[in-house]
Amino acid sequence: MFRNYSMTSGSAAYVHKITAVVVTGGSSGIGKTFIEQIFKLGSEIQFCNLSRKKPEFPALTGLKLEHFPCDLTDKSQIEVVFPELDAFLAQHGGDGEILLINNSGFGCYGSAQDLEIGRELEMLSLNINALVHLTGLMLPRMLKQGGVVLDVASTAAFQPTPQLSAYGATKAFVLHWNLALGDDLKGTKVRTLCLCPGPTATNFFKAAGFDESPLPNFGQTAEQVVDETLRALNKGKRLVVTGFSNKLIAFFSSRFLSKPMVTGISGWILRKVRQQ
Ligand SMILES: NC(=O)c1ccc[n+]([C@@H]2O[C@H](COP(=O)([O-])OP(=O)(O)OC[C@H]3O[C@@H](n4cnc5c(N)ncnc54)[C@H](OP(=O)(O)O)[C@@H]3O)[C@@H](O)[C@H]2O)c1
Repeated sequence: MFRNYSMTSGSAAYVHKITAVVVTGGSSGIGKTFIEQIFKLGSEIQFCNLSRKKPEFPALTGLKLEHFPCDLTDKSQIEVVFPELDAFLAQHGGDGEILLINNSGFGCYGSAQDLEIGRELEMLSLNINALVHLTGLMLPRMLKQGGVVLDVASTAAFQPTPQLSAYGATKAFVLHWNLALGDDLKGTKVRTLCLCPGPTATNFFKAAGFDESPLPNFGQTAEQVVDETLRALNKGKRLVVTGFSNKLIAFFSSRFLSKPMVTGISGWILRKVRQQ
């Protein structure tokens, strides 16, 4: 079952250095929860959201949130929206650190030969291209002010994922990109953190083509994922796999099994949860 969640002060210290958060996909799930939890720790922070739908937070009085409508699968929309975002940050983003959370993403579930190629290409554009594009555009400001590039990958990054073949490969890209970027940025005022959640109770599974979460007894809530991530951010970690069982799976699948062997096991599990 998804467990109850409680946040402690262990996640607060780094947040006090931030004056602006730029998040993609703050309209739902993990992205929305990042906004809620960071606001609770620092109500003065300016949030900027990029997604198609405007996030709604009726209960968060005083939340400073600017929404930049953007379909991130479309490179030209990123090019139009970024100058507006940058000008807004110059005026309202303060001069403290900037936390960039590249969170928008979706999956396509099914045998690769049955999936609609157009949808898969949109997924590659969102999960990979938009993340590299927005990071490249944001870095000049972040290098001046300091900050963190927090990319949302997945435990799918640690092994091939039959039935989610292209999705898992996009997340392997995100993991490797984020870790390598962090190394390139050594000695600057910007660091990185790669978040690898396992199954989490959000709209993700519906968007990927499942009727409901395929592993309902194995997941975390978005609040648990974000709480663990904010603690990792506070400790200066570069990689966080949230949830104990996810940590175990990531550890064993990436160290002790050959790639073909782990592909077979992963395919067996993912076929078991095939949608009806
Ligand atoms: N839930 C899980 O089990 C799980 C596990 C591992 C990793 N993840 C990763 O976590 C991240 C967040 O997913 P979630 O679980 O929170 O799912 P979610 O509730 O479906 O949220 C996905 C977010 O992505 C945004 N998005 C989708 N298409 C977009 C587009 N074309 N342009 C801009 N934004 C777009 C959506 O905003 P709009 O619809 O408003 O555009 C939405 O806010 C994803 O990268 C996902 O791969 C999720």
